Amino acid sequence: MCGIIGYIGKRQAQPILVNALKRLEYRGYDSCGLAVSGSDIRVYKDAVRIVELEKALPQLRGAIGIGHTRWATHGAPSQVNAHPQCDCTGNIAVVHNGIINNFQQLKQKLISEGHTFVSETDTEVIPHLIEKYYRDGSDLEEAVEAALGDIEGSYAIIILTAGEPKLVAARKDSPLIIGIGDRENFIASDVPAVLEYTSRVIYLEDSDIVVVTPQSITVKRDSIEVSREEHRISWGVEQAQKGGYEHFMLKEIHEQPKVIRDTLVEYTQTAEPVIDLEKMLDVSEESMLILACGTSYHAALIGKYLTEGLLSIPVRAEIASEFSYYGQTLARTMAIVITQSGETADTLKAIKRLKEVGCPVLAITNVVGSSASRIANQTIYTRAGPEISVAATKSFMAQLVVLYWLVMSYSKVDARRLASMLLELRQMPSKVQQVLDNENKILEVAKYLSGYENVFFIGRGINFPVALEGALKLKEISYIHAEGYSAGELKHGPFALLGNDTPVIAIMSQDNTYEAMLTNIKEIKARGSPVIAIVGEGDEAIEGLADWVITVPRVSAIFSPMVNTAALQLLAYYTAKERGCSIDTPRNLAKSVTVE
Ligand code: AGP
Repeated sequence: MCGIIGYIGKRQAQPILVNALKRLEYRGYDSCGLAVSGSDIRVYKDAVRIVELEKALPQLRGAIGIGHTRWATHGAPSQVNAHPQCDCTGNIAVVHNGIINNFQQLKQKLISEGHTFVSETDTEVIPHLIEKYYRDGSDLEEAVEAALGDIEGSYAIIILTAGEPKLVAARKDSPLIIGIGDRENFIASDVPAVLEYTSRVIYLEDSDIVVVTPQSITVKRDSIEVSREEHRISWGVEQAQKGGYEHFMLKEIHEQPKVIRDTLVEYTQTAEPVIDLEKMLDVSEESMLILACGTSYHAALIGKYLTEGLLSIPVRAEIASEFSYYGQTLARTMAIVITQSGETADTLKAIKRLKEVGCPVLAITNVVGSSASRIANQTIYTRAGPEISVAATKSFMAQLVVLYWLVMSYSKVDARRLASMLLELRQMPSKVQQVLDNENKILEVAKYLSGYENVFFIGRGINFPVALEGALKLKEISYIHAEGYSAGELKHGPFALLGNDTPVIAIMSQDNTYEAMLTNIKEIKARGSPVIAIVGEGDEAIEGLADWVITVPRVSAIFSPMVNTAALQLLAYYTAKERGCSIDTPRNLAKSVTVE
């Protein structure tokens, strides 16, 4: 997820582009750049935040320009990988938000036709394709249409061409809006970028191509002009950055169905596995070690259940900050480290230690070019996009998708079972959406829970780590003291804390843990604690036993952590909201913990 902007009008473009990019930084901030067309096209870009770029920017004169703030997917953050990307002549500059899936093939073909590439980005194929068709005598729109015909993937793009008093833009599976001004117009990824200049916007639809001049906006689809409705925006800039949600955390929770889809598309499209696990691990012989911190550690624990269940190899899931104190036997072990930011000091230290003893390391991270991706032997990226809220939500869900896909790619289960598991995994975006649609019920329970200061979360099997994650989410944003426990462990001590002022949240799953969980709930009720149960649809046994029941779609136990987690994220969010906490920036916490 990147932020793109285009301006054409009566004013100097540069200050407007810079200002708009500041408003779009929540979409990505690892590098940025802009291009302005005066007598020729001048490009200025670097791997810095927009405020830094602004300080170094020369004056680029011109009333037409484009800009970009990046969230790297292909090619680490660097000056040459930053956008705009240009063609060989430098007369065509493009900013892009999305992923071109077939860029490698297109690039090879263009190179064989004499094009020279300078970056590692997928985006750079776009200006070269447009150059190819433009050179062959097409006009600019035709050249853009022909280029888009070759591209597979998602895109929102804006094209600036030397000598052309217009901007051309197009979208497919990435958002793009037009801001309507007085003798000036704006093109942007999202409304926060233009709100300072206009509240009149048009939302472009998939496959729309638009030609924008200071006086006109022409939207075409399949070369036929179409009309698009104008909307008046009443939100302020900050609210717009949150997509109308009150907090980034709630927005990011609601982005999860798309995040699951995006991460799945990335890895299940290609026939050959993206990572050659067998090169790193002899799944018949060796063991696996999964290391991480915080929420990522809870994903590691789920990875352990999955891998032992489907690959039947021994897996240790360990807290990275503890790792350096163990006397580890790492022979014949492969390590996976999980880290959203890719910058967590404890996790980086663990990677370095593993590499010192020759242990191959696979990193699963959300940030391209992060330290973890640079020092690990191999990296798989989650496609959660930038996560602004300190409390990790969508990044955790994306980590689970990568673990499911990775383990299923190497599992020994029979093809039929594997096919049905992949089918169910592909249904998870809509199952998680169903949980999000049931928000009001969770809000009710949150109102009740917000009055307590101590809470236990319990689960068994693959939902024990979910209990840990539910407790972490609640404590880090609502400041309620919450603990996650394997349900069987509660009677070995914590039972002493039970009573009517200590609710217990039980995460049920229709598997071999169900009966034991029911028994635990009866034991807990007998000691006076209120019980909130998270159960699959159609669960009658729990009725009358739990004080509150939150129902989630019924899915196979192996996938239940995804729906259960979504419900627990919402419960934590609304409980914290009920208590008036500063949800996106909780006290004493940082999004990335870069100190040991
Ligand atoms: C989770 O909500 C917290 N922000 C925190 O526990 C986080 O998961 C932990 O610091 C690990 O961060 P990482 O995934 O970026 O390495």
